[in-house]
Amino acid sequence: MDDRSIDRLISDMTVVEKVGQMTQVEKYSITPDEVAQYGIGSVLSGAGGNPEPNTPEAWREMVSAFQDGALRSRLRIPLLYGVDAVHGNTNVHGSTVFPHNIGLGATRDPDLVHRIARVTAAELTATGVRWDFAPPVSVPQDIRWGRTLEAYSEDVDLVTELSVAFLQGLQDVASGDLSDPRVVLGCVKHFVADGATSWGSATPEAIVDGTPFDGLDEDGGEERRRVIEEHDAEFGELYEHGTWGQQLDQGNADISEQELRRMHLPPYVAAIANGARSIMVSLSSWQDAKLHIHGYLLTDLLKGELGFDGFLVSDWLGLDYLGDDYYRAVVLGINAGLDMVMVPHEWERFMVALIRASETGDVSMARIDDAVRRILQVKAELGLLDDVAPERGTTEAVGSAEHRAVAREAVAKSVVLLQDNGAVPLRRDTELVYVAGEAASDIGLQCGGWTIEWRGIPGGDIPGTTLLQAVAGAVSEETEVVYDASGLFGGRIADVGVVVVAEPPYAEMTGDRADLTLPPGDIELIESMRSQCRSLVGVLYTGRPLLVTDVAEQFDALVTAWLPGSEASGITDVLFGDLPFTGKLPYAWPRNRDQVPLAALDAAPEPPLWPRGHGLPGAVVIAKQEEVAVESSSRSGA
Ligand code: BGC
Repeated sequence: MDDRSIDRLISDMTVVEKVGQMTQVEKYSITPDEVAQYGIGSVLSGAGGNPEPNTPEAWREMVSAFQDGALRSRLRIPLLYGVDAVHGNTNVHGSTVFPHNIGLGATRDPDLVHRIARVTAAELTATGVRWDFAPPVSVPQDIRWGRTLEAYSEDVDLVTELSVAFLQGLQDVASGDLSDPRVVLGCVKHFVADGATSWGSATPEAIVDGTPFDGLDEDGGEERRRVIEEHDAEFGELYEHGTWGQQLDQGNADISEQELRRMHLPPYVAAIANGARSIMVSLSSWQDAKLHIHGYLLTDLLKGELGFDGFLVSDWLGLDYLGDDYYRAVVLGINAGLDMVMVPHEWERFMVALIRASETGDVSMARIDDAVRRILQVKAELGLLDDVAPERGTTEAVGSAEHRAVAREAVAKSVVLLQDNGAVPLRRDTELVYVAGEAASDIGLQCGGWTIEWRGIPGGDIPGTTLLQAVAGAVSEETEVVYDASGLFGGRIADVGVVVVAEPPYAEMTGDRADLTLPPGDIELIESMRSQCRSLVGVLYTGRPLLVTDVAEQFDALVTAWLPGSEASGITDVLFGDLPFTGKLPYAWPRNRDQVPLAALDAAPEPPLWPRGHGLPGAVVIAKQEEVAVESSSRSGA
C-alpha cells in the first residue's frame, strides 16, 4: 500500500478508529470482539502473558483469534501482536532459550547475534507473532541495575554493533523486504539513557516539567506489585541475601546532554540507519523530566534531528505512572511524540481521554493523524495491509535441534574463563567428579528472568540440558559423576569438583540489588567443595559481575557462564576443551563494592579484579582423551 492509499485510509477513519490504532492492550484485558469493535492497533503479551496450555499451537490460536478480531473491524486493519523475545521466544514452553544479552556481549560476535535473531524470528513467526520488543540497547553504567543482563555491554560501541546485528537479523536484512512473512519487526528500547540512572533516584513520584506530579495513580504499578508479591511469597528465600529493591530502574539519569549523546544515543542513530521502524520509550527520566513526555528528546531529537519516521510506543503503564491526572498525562505524552500507547489494561479510559483531547483541541488532529500514519506505514511495510492471508512458519521450528545447536554455540562462545591454574580442560576419563549447587540441575536458574514468566521460573520445567546432564554426557563411561545440590558427598575425595553458584532470577526493578557479594550459603558450599575435591572448577550463573574477590582463590578454575539459557552443553564444550574459550568480559569486573558503579571504578586507585575485555584463552584438547594442547592458560592477576 502506497502513501496515497494510506492517506485515503486515514481520511476515511473516525476519531475512534484513529485512537484505536494508537492503542496497545494487554491480551488479558481485551477480547477479539472488542478489538473488532474499536479497531485496536496492537495487542501484547507482557512477559508471562501466555495461553493455557502454553504450547506453540495455543500461542498461534491466541494470536490468530486477536488478528481475526482486527480483520472483522470496519476497516479490516490487521493488528501488530508484540512480545518480549529478549533471549529467544522464551514465553513459549519448549522454545530455544539463548544466553541473555550480557552473555552475547561476551561473544563479541555480530554474525552469531544475527543468526540468533533469525532463529528468534523463526520461533516467533511460528506462533504468529511479528513484533518483538527487542533489541534492548541500554548501556548500563551501574551493574546493580536489574536490567544489566539485558544489555550487551557497558561499552557503547559493542552495544551498537551487536544491537544492529540483532535488528538486522530479526528484520532479515538479507531479504531487504519487511513484507517477507519471515520478518519480525524489531523495537529498539528504551529511549534513552535508561542505563544511566543514579542509585536511589527511582522514586514513585514522577516529575513532570520540573514540578512533581501528584505521585502514583491509584492503579499505576498495582499489577506489577501484585506479581512481585506473589513471586516473593513462593520463592522469597532465594532473595534473602543481596538487599534487593528498586533503586535504579525507571530512575533519573542525571547526565549532561553531551554525555547522553556520547554514551546513550549512538545505538539509536545506528539502529535508525539500519532500518529501525519502532522504538520504545523509557520509563526513566532525564534531568528530572520523564522521557514519556519529553518533547525535546522524542520529537525534536529523535523524529526531527535523527529523522526517525517509524513509530514510538510507550512502555508498560508509562502514562499511568505520570500521576493522578490521567487526562493531562495523555495530552502531554501524545503531544511529546508518543504514537502508540502500551496502556496496557484500562484501554477504554485511554481512548476516552485521547478522544476528549482531540475534541478540546488539547491534542491536534494533525498530531493524531501523524501518529496513525506512522503506525499504518509500518504495517504497510510489513505487508499487513496487502489483503493476503499471512503465511506463518511451522510450530515445529520452536525449540528444534537446529535452533538449539545455535544456542549451544552461543553458550560456548559466551563463557569467560576468569582464572585458571591449568585445571581446564577437564579430562574425560577422570574417575570421580562431584557436581554441586542447586543451579547445576535447575534450568529455571540457568535461564534467569524473562523465561516463561516475567521473573523466570526457578525449579520450573523448561526443556533443555542442565550442566549436570552436560557433564554426565561429556565424561567417559567409566567416570562416576555424583551430584548433590548442597555438596554433601561423605568422605571420598574427588579428582574434580564442579560447583555452580547462581543469582536468583529477576526482571527489571526486582533485580536492582545493593549487595553483589555471594550469600554465606554459597561461600560455605564453595569451601566445602574445596575440601572434597583435588581440583575445583567454579561456574557462575549471573546477570552481572558479582563480588567474588574473597572466594576466588578457592578455585583452580573459575568461569562465568552468565545466564546461559537452555543449552548448558555449551559450557562443557569449553570446560572439556572441545572448543577454545573465546569469551571476553563485556563489563569490567569490580574488586569490591567501592568499585561500583562504573564511575567509582574509573576513579578508584586499584584496578578492577578483571578489566573489561578480560578472558583467558584456556587450552584445547588436540588429541581426544589423553593429550592437551601445549598452550596452557595461566592464572590471572586475581
Ligand atoms: C518493560 C519493557 C517490556 C514491556 C512489555 C515493560 O515493563 O520495561 O521492556 O517490553 O514491559 O512487556
